[in-house]
Amino acid sequence: MTEVLLRGRLLTFHDEPMGGEASADAFTYIEDGGLLLRDGMIAAMDEFSALRAGEGRNLEVIDHRPHLIMPGFIDTHIHFPQMQVVGSYAGALLEWLNKYTFVEEQKFSNQGHPERIASAFFDELIRHGTTTAAAYCSVHKASVQAFFAESHRRNTRMVAGKVMMDRNAPPGLLDTAQSGYDDSAALIAEWHGKGRQHYAITPRFAPTSTPEQLEMSGALASEHPDLHIQTHLCENTAEIAFVAELFPWSRDYTHVYEHYGLLGPKTLLGHCIHLTDAEIRAIAESRSVAVFCPTSNLFIGSGLFDLARLRASEPSVRNAIATDIGGGTSYSMLRTLDEGYKILNIQGQRYHPLRSFYQATLGNARALSLEDLIGSLKVGAEADCIVLDAGATPAMRLRMETVETLVEELFLLQTMGDDRSIVEVYVAGRPAKSTL
Ligand code: GUN
Ligand code: ZN
Repeated sequence: MTEVLLRGRLLTFHDEPMGGEASADAFTYIEDGGLLLRDGMIAAMDEFSALRAGEGRNLEVIDHRPHLIMPGFIDTHIHFPQMQVVGSYAGALLEWLNKYTFVEEQKFSNQGHPERIASAFFDELIRHGTTTAAAYCSVHKASVQAFFAESHRRNTRMVAGKVMMDRNAPPGLLDTAQSGYDDSAALIAEWHGKGRQHYAITPRFAPTSTPEQLEMSGALASEHPDLHIQTHLCENTAEIAFVAELFPWSRDYTHVYEHYGLLGPKTLLGHCIHLTDAEIRAIAESRSVAVFCPTSNLFIGSGLFDLARLRASEPSVRNAIATDIGGGTSYSMLRTLDEGYKILNIQGQRYHPLRSFYQATLGNARALSLEDLIGSLKVGAEADCIVLDAGATPAMRLRMETVETLVEELFLLQTMGDDRSIVEVYVAGRPAKSTL
């Protein structure tokens, strides 16, 4: 049995805080808290003194005071083969894909490359406090093997899949409808449910799949109804026009995915910026998730995610937030929350700091339908948690002198924080950042 008692200021969410008074019962905050991690799970969460008295004095205690302890961050959309694409100078999505991204992703057929990048990728996630991600691998089976092998070795809970793409990209990056299906099926059999690994059916986006491939993707989805599905939707206006050309029978872009049976409660739709009312209805009714990728949307110049519009529909659209590395520019969910705040603010949508931290933890866990396992510090959840320092840099320390409340501290973390604010990361109860 491995057991450790963390001491610090504990913060965890039970529900979405809608701001102000409404927030009080949406979270638990314990000023001098104890978090008992036992065999990779959270065994108890209480006042430190109560736990210390109740659980005995022989426990190893790690004292993280005065820092905040929260559930690990969850990134719901990230491209593992794009580590060397970040910061590529391009006009817009299609140019960015063709000029840089498709070139870089071809390197994943090179011997040793997927393993090297996988190791760097997991180091980077951990350094930034991200303990779970929904990741796109490349079209190559070896990239998925390297990803899951690395994740399994580190015992992280991850969602990932082989990108399927059989047209409109360089030959070195194409599979076929049949090989995409066969490779995905083999990877599902090997990795889905192994340790903490989840397989996601991953047709890249409508422009790079033939109708046959989307049909095969739908077949995989109906054969494995518990699997996640991840793809991109309505990120850019030229992309939308291209989809209309490629699928002339479709009512709109969303209809293409709907037609092939790819919408549903486990479906993650990256971007969702330029949607019609009919598309919002289809996404909402299918319980699919719209994934907001703020740093990417600003960097590639795709547009402003209109959260209020998605939430106002009846039923409302489920949503999540993500980095979208390498279109995105930071691995940090703190930087991502900050840029997300700015995108919403410029549209007159104030977003409370408590909601931001809810979103990066329990909110994203719910979007992945994994809230029973991750995203909170509740007893019985997996012990993935992070230790945050709002005074990690000289400028932050100075600013902290004027901070009086938890909400102000969270907002400072989000506004000025990055990997330097992540003091420690626990993955399934074991320290993972200090041991990198
Ligand atoms: N659409 C299709 N592929 C991609 C990708 O790799 N990144 C982004 N941002 N959009 C995409
Ligand atoms: Zn993406």
